[in-house]
Amino acid sequence: MDRLSVITGNAHLELAQSICKYLKIGLTSCMAGRFSEGEIRVKLEDNIRGKDVFVIQPTCPPVNENLMELLILIDAIKRASAKRITAVMPYYGYARQDRKDQPRVPITAKLVANLITVAGADRVLTMDLHAGQIQGFFDIPLDHLFSVGVFVDYFQELKLKDLVVVSPDVGGIKMARAYAKRMNAGLAIVDKRRISPTATEAVHILGDIEDKNIIIVDDLISTGSSLIEAVEVLNKRGAKQIRAAIAHGVLCGSALERIESCKPLKELIISDSIPLSDDKKQPKIRVLSVAGLLGEAIKRIHNEESVSSLFD
Ligand code: R5P
Repeated sequence: MDRLSVITGNAHLELAQSICKYLKIGLTSCMAGRFSEGEIRVKLEDNIRGKDVFVIQPTCPPVNENLMELLILIDAIKRASAKRITAVMPYYGYARQDRKDQPRVPITAKLVANLITVAGADRVLTMDLHAGQIQGFFDIPLDHLFSVGVFVDYFQELKLKDLVVVSPDVGGIKMARAYAKRMNAGLAIVDKRRISPTATEAVHILGDIEDKNIIIVDDLISTGSSLIEAVEVLNKRGAKQIRAAIAHGVLCGSALERIESCKPLKELIISDSIPLSDDKKQPKIRVLSVAGLLGEAIKRIHNEESVSSLFD
């Protein structure tokens, strides 16, 4: 492990420290600050020549700052003669614009993949991508982790009966099926329509949810619109307790107030792929750590062992 180096930007110091704790190594010292006009200033304070370097940086809000910082860190690491650079992005921002769903729009998920590659990353390690196909936007190796195991461990402790896993939209069926299979639960889908970038409408439910305990699963929660709409329609149709397991807690706009005031929602469980600041913490939100999952994947990549066997 002496050839392994873990570096972090400012996006999520706590997660980087927890990953290092799992790996039983210290963080490589690195300064990532700002010049007075706001430009990003980076300096590696340790020698990393010939090392296998992992840069931990979820591209969560402030997205542009965190993304640019990641690119500049990769550039500094490359110029400091690292042997290999892995961009560790527990949350991959800009992923939702992954296709031209209307004329004259960009494909930002691909643009970000190009930027990371051109900056000098040799590989990418990420988790619960908005769409699995984003892997194909990279021409460098990418390892895609799933937090489902971490969440299922928690739900198994609750010993919930009559369980149905619900996807809040058609795009999330694969993730919901993975949960349902592991927990031996039923499966249902909410037919959601997006009215605007910040508003959705839940129309129908496909599947039997009456008198069932529900776990809504999704890759991310942003404004909370998809989740709250799904909770309300499930509640109206006679669901029992409703919980949500969402990999990435982006939680912007009025998401927190909406969660707090949504009575039928018993608990929202998110991972720590994105930091949850103290002012965002509330009793209804539980955070499960994916530091062990990321740390184990880093160890295996470094030792050239199988990463997919992590999911067996
Ligand atoms: C949509 O395809 C995603 O999986 C999420 O359901 C959605 O992006 C969440 O956004 P919001 O919380 O703003 O509804």
